[in-house]
Amino acid sequence: HYQHIILAIETSCDETAVAVIADGKHILSNVVSSQIDVHAQYGGVVPEIASRKHVETMTIIIEEAVAKSGYQLSDMTAIAVTQGPGLVGALLVGIIAAKSLALALQIPLIGTHHIAGHIYANELVSTIVYPSMALVVSGGHTELVYMRERGSFEIIGKTRDDAVGEAYDKVARALKLPYPGGPHIDKLAQEASLAITLPRAWLEEGSYDFSFSGLKSAVLSAINIANMKQQPLDTSAIARGFQESVIEVLTTKAARAVQQYGVKQLLLSGGVAANQGLRQQLAISCAQIGVELLVPPLSLCTDNAAMIGAAAQLKLERKQFSSLEIQAEAGFSL
Ligand code: KG4
Ligand code: ZN
Repeated sequence: HYQHIILAIETSCDETAVAVIADGKHILSNVVSSQIDVHAQYGGVVPEIASRKHVETMTIIIEEAVAKSGYQLSDMTAIAVTQGPGLVGALLVGIIAAKSLALALQIPLIGTHHIAGHIYANELVSTIVYPSMALVVSGGHTELVYMRERGSFEIIGKTRDDAVGEAYDKVARALKLPYPGGPHIDKLAQEASLAITLPRAWLEEGSYDFSFSGLKSAVLSAINIANMKQQPLDTSAIARGFQESVIEVLTTKAARAVQQYGVKQLLLSGGVAANQGLRQQLAISCAQIGVELLVPPLSLCTDNAAMIGAAAQLKLERKQFSSLEIQAEAGFSL
């Protein structure tokens, strides 16, 4: 009884993910195989290992997603795949699998943007009302995206250096916390009774861009000074100071953007959307300015293929198909 059934594949970083999505809204299956344990021992994602793991699991995950969907490969309308941005070698594994399926099944291929995916994760649980504003925060991204209408994206601000999740992971590493460090810092920050004061990078007046590398350096020098003076390190106070700085900047800029562009909704997505402090502060700010805050469940905020299927729906309706010649694009633009 569905009009369109999309099989979507996502391999841009360290999750091998396949989902089956009906009419851009209904999740028939959503399988994610994470490689976090493998990369944790190196303290971060090792691209070469990520590609190899994708190769090992790709076919199994496709079979699992199809089986769980209650449909068969022959029922699919199109194959969607993340074309970029991401790690080229990792992206390639998903793209080759997608091309092979599209060719064998004689159905269209839809190359999809990873950030459009994060944004359209919201469409799987709510309804986006345009014009809308999205804040995408993950290990690879920090972007404020204005959407005038469905399928239109304007990046009005982005990080000039580290992505916010990347800054979390680097600070966590300096504090000798396990990888990925975001959740650990979040927990410490929530429990801390004190916060050290750290800088906020506002950049030029009116700018919606972000910068987190100065903040990260300030944390590293606080740690070095404590070590030199042989003082004990107050890890929680550092975590809280770092988190307060990040949240204040993200929340202030997002609230200003929402007001200036006159949108009714703020869509939060990406792995850092798991951050409790960020959710609380954005909820308060949005309530104050009368804007609805949409945050998908965590499983749809971190990398998954369901969001890629949701983002591909519009291209399917508009018949914006990709050729079988498409390549992985590390710097793919929205
Ligand atoms: O979206 P995601 O799963 O993968 C990327 O596309 O990057 O995001 C992973 C990032 C990691 O940097 C991780 O440390 C961060 O999200 N993260 C958090 C929290 N949970 C995950 N950062 C801050 N607070 C959290 N609770
Ligand atoms: Zn992502």
